[in-house]
Amino acid sequence: MKDGNCKLTPSMEDYLEMIYRLSMEAGYTRINELAENLKVQPPSVTRMIQRLSLIGLVYYEKYGVVRLTEQGKKKGSILLKRHNVVEKFLRAIGVTEGIEEETEKIEHNVSNDTLLCFVDYLSFLEENPQISQWFNDYKRQNGEEV
Ligand code: CO
Repeated sequence: MKDGNCKLTPSMEDYLEMIYRLSMEAGYTRINELAENLKVQPPSVTRMIQRLSLIGLVYYEKYGVVRLTEQGKKKGSILLKRHNVVEKFLRAIGVTEGIEEETEKIEHNVSNDTLLCFVDYLSFLEENPQISQWFNDYKRQNGEEV
């Protein structure tokens, strides 16, 4: 069963992304910290960590310490990047309201090809800041009519 390549559920993806975020500084996180940040009860976190450990993505250690395996780190970093790209794309097209929720909904369902299109579009905007300027002006002028 130790195959971190199997398809992860959205909930597993959320956990992995959060473990990756929280482990950035210390190199690990804990069940309680995860529970707090994901707004779920510690027993649910423990259950999920056991599943993730079974498929070789995390080490579940003593005192509630959770550490990513190499495979888990790779996956976690991809998930965090994906989250950031989606969020940045939504901002670029003018989404501000509920941006976290919107990002969460899209990130689990977006295909890799579409994500790469987001990436291309964002770097295009970065290299052509005038486009964003025009777009923002356009939105401001037409905002009410949509
Ligand atoms: Co996310």
